[in-house]
Amino acid sequence: DWNMPDYVAEAVAAIREQVGDEEVILGLSGGVDSSVAAALIHRAIGEQLTCVFVDNGLLRLNEAEQVMQTFARNLGVKVIHVDATDQFMGHLAGVSDPEQKRKIIGREFVEVFQDQAAKLPKARWLAQGTIYPDVIESAGGKTKKAHTIKSHHNVGGLPDTLNLKLLEPLRELFKDEVRELGIALGLPHDMVYRHPFPGPGLGVRILGEVKHEYAELLRRADAIFIDELRAADWYDKTSQAFAVFLPVKSVGVMGDGRTYEYVVALRAVQTQDFMTAHWAELPHALLGKVSNRIINEVRGINRVVYDISGKPPATIEWE
Ligand code: XMP
Repeated sequence: DWNMPDYVAEAVAAIREQVGDEEVILGLSGGVDSSVAAALIHRAIGEQLTCVFVDNGLLRLNEAEQVMQTFARNLGVKVIHVDATDQFMGHLAGVSDPEQKRKIIGREFVEVFQDQAAKLPKARWLAQGTIYPDVIESAGGKTKKAHTIKSHHNVGGLPDTLNLKLLEPLRELFKDEVRELGIALGLPHDMVYRHPFPGPGLGVRILGEVKHEYAELLRRADAIFIDELRAADWYDKTSQAFAVFLPVKSVGVMGDGRTYEYVVALRAVQTQDFMTAHWAELPHALLGKVSNRIINEVRGINRVVYDISGKPPATIEWE
């Protein structure tokens, strides 16, 4: 139990003390942890912080714009926005194995980030949004590994070859404390209370080979689903919700014509710890509205299905 304004003041003083007049770089993902870390460090050292935001082409609709709006325009944080879509798509072409895709996305991220870091030779610190549960997880590495079915990668985990000292101001905080801190620092409520989004992004929500065309369709379908969940007050009642692109064509009718287009699956789960999860029993009227909107508004999708699998045996993501 702590007092937020006091905590912010203490954390700011600690960062200033640690960093002095040196420069810091931070990989901003748009997720809660890196966002709160960026806002806190910026509060402490302002212009000495440079954030790098990598658009891998696998982000949600308007995500890059929202990050630039919140950080660069509203908070005045220095953010380098790197559009690396073509680089990521190029390396993912022809690859359909989920673990292989994760590896490529992780590797390309490191490469893009390192290129940017090389352009900031004065940087001495690498800031990361590591939170307390991450610290415990890596300490108990062995037990965790045994339960890991998918190799996770985050914006963290950059190599030591960067030769930077680590700055991790959220290391002692639990997720709910990180969220409170984000609000106290002026971050938007929707950003701070957003569902988790995997590091590989839409790369693991497009089954099989990732194509730019598929990502465009999926982004729009996903945005409609999330809009309607929010409008129906279901967003906060689910732990994670998203659309999945199935590269399968099925037949439909539209007006007088026959269509032959792709399928989107909707996934919404409720869970405490993401190790087990129940599919969310969304109202049929809500599902119907989402389905109608996706099929009417996203040309290229003519069928929507709802995933009613629990974890276990299914996982939350489809890959
Ligand atoms: P699964 O699909 O394993 O997902 O039931 C459990 C939680 O982990 C997230 N997830 C990932 N997060 N990199 C990440 O940063 C990944 O490769 C990855 N794969 C799954 C998933 O979104 C869910 O919250």
